[in-house]
Amino acid sequence: MTIATELPAFDPSSTSTPPADAAGRGTDGHAAPITMLNPDFPFSYDHYLAHPDGLGSVPPELYGTEVAVIGAGVSGLVTAYELMKLGLRPVVYEADQIGGRLRTAAFPAAPGVVADLGGMRFPVSGKAFYHYVDLLGLQTQDFPNPLAEATSSTVIELAGKKHYAEKPGDLPLFFREVADAWKAAVNDGAKFVQMQDAIKARDMARIKDLWNELLPLMDEQTFYGFIAASDSFKKAGFAHREAFGQVGFGTGGWDTDFPNSILEILRVVYTDADDQHRFIRGGAQRLPEALWQHAPSDMAHWPAGTSLSSLHSGSPRGAVGKISRDQDGNLRIRERWGREASYPAVVSTCQSWLLSTRIHTEEALFPAELWTAMERSHYMQSSKTFVMVDRPFWKDIDPETGNDILSMTLTDRLNRATYLLDNGPDQPAVILLSYTWNDDALKWLALDADERVELMLHSLEQIYPGVDIAGHIVGQPITVSWEADPNFMGAFKANLPGHYRYQQRLFTHFKQDRLPESQRGIFLAGDDVSFTAGWAEGAVTTGLNAVWGVVKHLGGASAPGNPGPGDLLDEFGPISLD
Ligand code: ARG
Repeated sequence: MTIATELPAFDPSSTSTPPADAAGRGTDGHAAPITMLNPDFPFSYDHYLAHPDGLGSVPPELYGTEVAVIGAGVSGLVTAYELMKLGLRPVVYEADQIGGRLRTAAFPAAPGVVADLGGMRFPVSGKAFYHYVDLLGLQTQDFPNPLAEATSSTVIELAGKKHYAEKPGDLPLFFREVADAWKAAVNDGAKFVQMQDAIKARDMARIKDLWNELLPLMDEQTFYGFIAASDSFKKAGFAHREAFGQVGFGTGGWDTDFPNSILEILRVVYTDADDQHRFIRGGAQRLPEALWQHAPSDMAHWPAGTSLSSLHSGSPRGAVGKISRDQDGNLRIRERWGREASYPAVVSTCQSWLLSTRIHTEEALFPAELWTAMERSHYMQSSKTFVMVDRPFWKDIDPETGNDILSMTLTDRLNRATYLLDNGPDQPAVILLSYTWNDDALKWLALDADERVELMLHSLEQIYPGVDIAGHIVGQPITVSWEADPNFMGAFKANLPGHYRYQQRLFTHFKQDRLPESQRGIFLAGDDVSFTAGWAEGAVTTGLNAVWGVVKHLGGASAPGNPGPGDLLDEFGPISLD
């Protein structure tokens, strides 16, 4: 349970839900679940993936045709995997590690103990992502978010005042008022309940009707402006606004998102992306690694046992240095160390602005407006610092209070959020001392791991006087600042007000029928091209868009009974603003 979900209007089962969709999901008498059906394009990628007829076909004479895929993160590997299943030959390029921002680091002193440096918690509403989790047989478990079921206790410490809670109801009335104000704000200002009902029913037309009306107004508004302008927060006053930013909804404080467009936040809360998170046992990187190794059973052209790994003899190609068009009209890729190859189609899944910074990309390959969309995009910084401890000592009980001696912590101090990650009794455990975004992440950027840990422990000592956290630390700390990594230059995109038009251009580019020949054949995918940057679901679904685009480009088509994203984009896709 989170602060938000405790409240009736946020409880998926508390609103009346029309009967399930034609495909029969949710007809067991239970309300159909919320899925990450994006209001800009509410296409059911999970149904598309599950359809027995598959994602389409290419003419058999094209079997074995090479298609370049830049980036071996989730988006690139989903793209490559599905292209392989269609009988094409994906050629994956990777500058660093298989996994992208699903990167898991092991503590050298105990290599079985791991830390997820990027994506670490995956909402169950992300059904396309879980399609691959299930396919690959990965084990998942509830993530210990603030006040979640899996979290034994949570401490909220604001302005030096500390509140201990094992369930949301343990918190003072003030926090209930904050959550109520947010609930009222999204209902009054953004038709929250209606939208969730439409999403549960997978009613594409209804979702679009609701969203298209809100969108032009909301694109002008920041997250903070939306809250400040709402009647409920006006009535409640500044302290409630402030605490809302610090405690937030679902996953914790979101005030570092205050300058971003409210559209970004609405997409998250409508689709429960901030709720019911699970983590992947053994680390999130297991998913991309398993995709790389997996040999699908139902492939066109390739013999049984073929996997991405086997097609690449074990390793992807190197970093891409240059993308251009050759004399024959094919796309030419030069690696950082000089090897060159040409392809009829290329899918680029790295952060899109790397195409103007890290990769020398011929300008004529994209329309000028698309370059603007890539250049103007806003990426969030994000930093995490982990330590390994000898055991989950936080479960020890303070004899005086009867409380856990240390809890999952939300604070207005530099740390902002501390997560306790248990690997079982008497096993080494992990503390994510601090997970921060934007300005809060920049405050850590210049400091090395030890300096970060020292400051973080200092903050925790003020919150938990007398608890010797440092005395439990073993091995070296692990820290990351995604903005400092030249292959990412930021953690994930977050659009600012007025950026909707850019996002629309990026997202719809995979349908290339209106582009001149000279700009076709190169596709963009990745979470920053999706409408939900910072969620793996967006990486998966934009990868599937790119697969559709490549198939179309090469002269193939969707299976007749299973229309793909590009087949429905004109009807249900993002609208154009003037
Ligand atoms: N999904 C990530 C998490 O759960 C963070 C993404 C947040 N997106 C944002 N615009 N702040 O931590």
